[in-house]
Amino acid sequence: MTAPLPAAVFASGGGSNLQSLLDHSESTEAPWRISVVIANRDAGVLMRARAAGIPTAVIPTKDRDPQDVGEETLSVLGTHAVDLVFLAGYLRLLPPAVISAFRNRILNVHPALLPAFGGKGMYGMHVHEAVLASGARVSGPTVHLVDEEYDRGRILAQLPVPVLLGDTAEELAARVLAAEHRLFSIVADHVARAVLEGREPEPLDARHWEDISHASNQDQSTRKDGI
Ligand code: GRF
Repeated sequence: MTAPLPAAVFASGGGSNLQSLLDHSESTEAPWRISVVIANRDAGVLMRARAAGIPTAVIPTKDRDPQDVGEETLSVLGTHAVDLVFLAGYLRLLPPAVISAFRNRILNVHPALLPAFGGKGMYGMHVHEAVLASGARVSGPTVHLVDEEYDRGRILAQLPVPVLLGDTAEELAARVLAAEHRLFSIVADHVARAVLEGREPEPLDARHWEDISHASNQDQSTRKDGI
C-alpha cells in the first residue's frame, strides 16, 4: 500500500472535527494521516492534538501582514512535508500563497448547505440562527475545496440533516456537527485518493451516501470528557 499522505489540520476551536479525523485515521487504512495541527490561537484543539501525540503549531494572524503569515505557514507545512490541508473550524482566511501552493488540496467543512448560509461572518451559531430564521426545513454540512474567498470553492459533498420544528440553534448545531464528523473523513479519503492518483478531486454524489451513512456511528468526537 502507498504511504498515507501527510495532512495538516487547521482549527480555531474545540476540535471535535479533528478528533473524528484522528479516530478515522487510527481505525481505518485511510490514505492520509495527520502530521501537524495548526491553530491561530491557544485553543482546545491543541490539547486534543497533544493527547494524540500529534505535533502542533500556533500561527497568530491578528494584526499581521498576510504575506508574513503565508511565509510562516508554508514553512510549517514544509517542515511536516504536508500534502493535504483540512480546515476543521478554522475561522481565518488562509493567505493567498498557501491557497495557490495547495490548490485543490485544501478542504473545509462548513455547517450548512452552501452556497446558502456561507461567507464572511457565517460561522458558529450565526449559521444555525440564520438557517432557523430562514424557515429552511433542511440543513447539513458541506465539505468543499478552498479558494481565496470564504466558503466559495467547489462543493465536494453535502449531507442533509433535518431541521425539526422547535429546534434551537444549539440543537440544530449538535445534529449538524454529528453529520460533519461522518462526512469529513469520507471526503478526506476521497480527495487523498485523487491526489495519489494525480487527478483533480471530483464531487461525491448520492452513490456515496451509503458509505457516509455507514461511517462510524461510534462518534467519539462529541464526547464530553474534557478534551
Ligand atoms: C464546526 O461546526 C465546523 O463546521 C465549523 O466550525 C465548527 C468546528 O467545531 N467550521 P469543532 O472545533 O471541530 O468542534
